[in-house]
Amino acid sequence: MKLAIIGTGYVGLVSGACFAEVGHTVICVDNDPAKVKVLTDGGIPIYEPGLEEMVKANVAAGRLRFTTSTEEGVQGSDVIFIAVPTPPLPDGSVDLSYIEKVAREIASAMTSYKIVVDKSTVPVKTGDKVSETIKRYCKAKVEFDVVSNPEFLREGFAVDDLMHPDRVVIGTKSLRPVNAMKQIYLPFNAPIVVTDINSAELIKHASNSFLALKISYINAISVICEATGANVQEVANGMGMDERIGRRFLDASLGFGGSCFPKDLSAFIKISEQVGYDFGLLKEVQKINTFQMDRFVKKISETLWVLKDKTIGVLGLAFKQNTDDVRMSPAIDLCLRLQKEGAILRVYDPKAMDKAKGVLKDVTFVEDMDSVPEGCDALVVATEWEQFKKLDLERCRGAMTHPIMFDGRNMFDPAEMEQLGFIYKSIGR
Ligand code: UGA
Repeated sequence: MKLAIIGTGYVGLVSGACFAEVGHTVICVDNDPAKVKVLTDGGIPIYEPGLEEMVKANVAAGRLRFTTSTEEGVQGSDVIFIAVPTPPLPDGSVDLSYIEKVAREIASAMTSYKIVVDKSTVPVKTGDKVSETIKRYCKAKVEFDVVSNPEFLREGFAVDDLMHPDRVVIGTKSLRPVNAMKQIYLPFNAPIVVTDINSAELIKHASNSFLALKISYINAISVICEATGANVQEVANGMGMDERIGRRFLDASLGFGGSCFPKDLSAFIKISEQVGYDFGLLKEVQKINTFQMDRFVKKISETLWVLKDKTIGVLGLAFKQNTDDVRMSPAIDLCLRLQKEGAILRVYDPKAMDKAKGVLKDVTFVEDMDSVPEGCDALVVATEWEQFKKLDLERCRGAMTHPIMFDGRNMFDPAEMEQLGFIYKSIGR
């Protein structure tokens, strides 16, 4: 199939690469000439395991190219995917201006039947608006179909998630685009769910909100575990063995972050409000998430008493492992809160240092993990990078002024840490 993807962010770029990988011909469109130049020259603007190799191989094979021209993308393709940002507005609702602009651009470039697919996360009923907009701005008055095809990839695992999806959701009003959509996804060997557009749009917000709820649920359980001497990991393991519950997304942490869960929760609460329902359950999910970070900061300040002029090492700045993304990162939030109390920070992340430099000022960016503890009064684990498990703990204890570790991701064993002479505080254990 000939496909165009408008927007080369996480969703657009990874989708484009994976569609090309399975044999489709893909034109990726972005209105940022600098980004298009980087991509055309073989660079990748984000860190995502496996992506760079995949992009390079498919560019070389002639199946993937990049352009700034929406017209070129639209006219050279049968199916056009919209994958532009849908950022939050100050009141929690979604800014749909990028979607609207792209819909107008697609409309004015269309000269024959096209399938216009929305992949961005959007509020329910956005498909209707996209349809109306295309109809209004299409000078050629050609036929088209609008499809909702939400994306469920996780940053850090995006290529794998896209190549092996649990399901593919296709929301459509008419049957006409169904075959083409099935053909696009056939090589991925995944179950395909065909629904109406509104349901497809809701599946995305309902799924992300449910996953956030799962995390807040286990984080609330972590409070009870700490108060009773239970171990939240054992509770999660025991719960997760029930297939109705499942173990995934039951890792207690210092809260969820990133560019999706916080934004999608606010949006879903707002959408519910607009249809007359107060989604109190999701408001509580947000509250628990904030409380979890508050509790963690309190744990640090109660242990160290005064944070002013204390040197704290922070391992991890990205919002989660395997990514360089620091948007809405709990780790960055934590750093800013510790700094506000007067702490001096030595920070490290395997991939997110450059991006963190844009948001963290007056901290020492340490170039290697093992040097972070030097002269520290305490060490904090803020992101669950696998490599942190390889930290040389003996050396770490020796390098610190005081061997105190706050583990916001439960990466180490409490008994072992104690044996090694650390004061070790984690989440829900
Ligand atoms: C999330 C969803 O998982 C994807 O399915 C969805 O496509 C994506 O949002 C999106 O809407 O685009 P993502 O935000 O990339 O993906 O990352 P997650 O792996 O879901 O992690 C989100 C946050 O939850 C991270 O801060 C992570 O550390 C935290 N988390 C995750 C926990 O605290 N505990 C867990 O058990 C799992």
